[in-house]
Amino acid sequence: MAQFARCFSFFLCALSLAEECQDETTAVWQLQLQSALSANPSSGICASPAPEDYDKPISAVLEKYPGRDGWCIFGAAADWCSTCAIGREQKDMRPYAEHQMKVIATTEYKYLQTGKEPKKVLLPEGTSYESLSNVRDYHDLFCALNGLFNVSRSAALDDFEYLAQVSEQRCLGVQSKVWNYFGLSINNLLLDPYPLGDALIEILTSDKPVVYLNQSFVDMFHYEAAVQCRLGNDKGALCVMSYCALRGCMEPDGVVGQTKHGECPPI
Ligand SMILES: *[C@@H]1O[C@H](CO)[C@@H](O)[C@H](O)[C@H]1NC(C)=O
Ligand SMILES: *[C@@H]1O[C@H](CO)[C@@H](O)[C@H](O)[C@H]1NC(C)=O
Repeated sequence: MAQFARCFSFFLCALSLAEECQDETTAVWQLQLQSALSANPSSGICASPAPEDYDKPISAVLEKYPGRDGWCIFGAAADWCSTCAIGREQKDMRPYAEHQMKVIATTEYKYLQTGKEPKKVLLPEGTSYESLSNVRDYHDLFCALNGLFNVSRSAALDDFEYLAQVSEQRCLGVQSKVWNYFGLSINNLLLDPYPLGDALIEILTSDKPVVYLNQSFVDMFHYEAAVQCRLGNDKGALCVMSYCALRGCMEPDGVVGQTKHGECPPI
């Protein structure tokens, strides 16, 4: 944070050419800084972690970069990382959410295109919902089972403080449900972004209108959210909450809707 503030004041100096900026040393600084800023004004990447850092507990990596969060430390690993980091830096998650919607529409992840009639999904005892209706794909379940639909959609998109606060609560909830929470590494998410995805497709494309998901699926969705919570050191880290808000909604009785199918008001 201190580092950022310093950069920022140098940047202002460069713009205003205020008197205290005129000495030679500062001028050199200014030039270096200006070129750094113009090369990469806000890339969402703030470090180049070593290859082994990808397998280390995220907490251990965070310790090496005080004041940074995992989203920008691992910004170069994936564009969902860097776009989240930019959103957090600018305290505006809408561009991240819109970017995710676009990526998903154009890359045709099979897990998000099951193509059959939506299903009613029965869930194991002790899950936050007994069942969900109108489930179509992986992300319907990810958002619902992590409580990411149970929020104010417009605030999740347009009010960064709200998102930070609510996602911190969700991360606390996830923490108690995920084994080895503090040992999670970013590779836990990068290496297999859709674990059990094929098994899920088989279930969601079956001819049965009502299907059952066992505890392994529920655990998997919590675990995927958990890695994201760790990236922000549990502090308001779930950028994905804004994506869930943009893509869909859920009635209190567990009926899931998608904005693109006209089932949720556009926001
Ligand atoms: C949804 O959120 C409300 C308010 O935060 C909470 O009281 C309720 O238990 C939540 N419902 C579920 C199913 O998580
Ligand atoms: C749940 O179902 C999946 C897919 O069929 C299977 O791989 C897994 O072992 C099952 N888990 C439990 C706890 O039964």
